[in-house]
Amino acid sequence: MSGSDKFKNKQILVVGATGGLGCSIARHLKSEGASLILSGRNEAKLNALSQELGADSLSVDLSDSAGRAQLADTIGTVDGVVYAAGVAPVAPVRYLKDADVEVCLNVNTTGPLLLIRDLLKKKKLNAGASMVWLSSVASARGAAGYAAYAASKAGLEASARCLALELAPKRMRVNCIAPGMIETEMAASAAERISGEALAAHLKAYPLGAGQPADVAAAASFLLSDASRWVTGVTLPVDGGFSIQ
Ligand SMILES: NC(=O)c1ccc[n+]([C@@H]2O[C@H](COP(=O)([O-])OP(=O)(O)OC[C@H]3O[C@@H](n4cnc5c(N)ncnc54)[C@H](OP(=O)(O)O)[C@@H]3O)[C@@H](O)[C@H]2O)c1
Repeated sequence: MSGSDKFKNKQILVVGATGGLGCSIARHLKSEGASLILSGRNEAKLNALSQELGADSLSVDLSDSAGRAQLADTIGTVDGVVYAAGVAPVAPVRYLKDADVEVCLNVNTTGPLLLIRDLLKKKKLNAGASMVWLSSVASARGAAGYAAYAASKAGLEASARCLALELAPKRMRVNCIAPGMIETEMAASAAERISGEALAAHLKAYPLGAGQPADVAAAASFLLSDASRWVTGVTLPVDGGFSIQ
């Protein structure tokens, strides 16, 4: 099968398509023949990407249930969902704001779980659909300042394992990708909040060097495709060897 036929006749929803990883994943899936529905908040970015990729799009805020419900109502049926929306309120615990923690849990953890619920209830997931959620290496390792973010990602992975079992009889699959630090806006803004030395030390901890969005996109493509049809409920580290140390 040529690369451009891999997702022929497959509809894939990419949530967070306006972000560094979501955008790269969308472009990669398009190059492999997928029809895309893109979602994000920034309308200018979303419109530009939709035009570039010939995709449908919907701008929604996923920090509350209204945006999620609107997304599930509006789209047609899909064969795959990539959830790449996320926020990272990185701060020492004494400076963490209630509102930031709440949004973090809503967007990173509750959002993907309840979006799947809404899509199932509205019969928007085709048989054999594959869900891919963006977690993080932070879910399994302590890092000062990351308490809220790490909790949101550990919860996401726990949800994915349970949903994977629940949806297996429908031949639907749910998997997570746990990237290490990849060069995107999120990584840049997290880096701004830690010292230069801490960042340099962190980057040295990647045996294969720094990661790129394309590395995550290739993993998402695998987990969405039939090549991974016997893989469900796992978290795939895409981290240049960071987490095996
Ligand atoms: N980059 C990394 O190093 C890294 C490492 C590990 C895990 N991850 C995870 O990978 C995912 C993507 O990260 P990224 O680097 O691509 O981040 P990013 O560039 O900051 O993009 C974040 C995405 O989330 C969307 N988003 C944020 N808040 C939202 C809300 N309330 N409603 C709807 N959409 C919202 C953004 O939409 P708008 O821009 O349109 O507002 C954007 O599309 C995240 O879950 C992140 O935790 C990233």
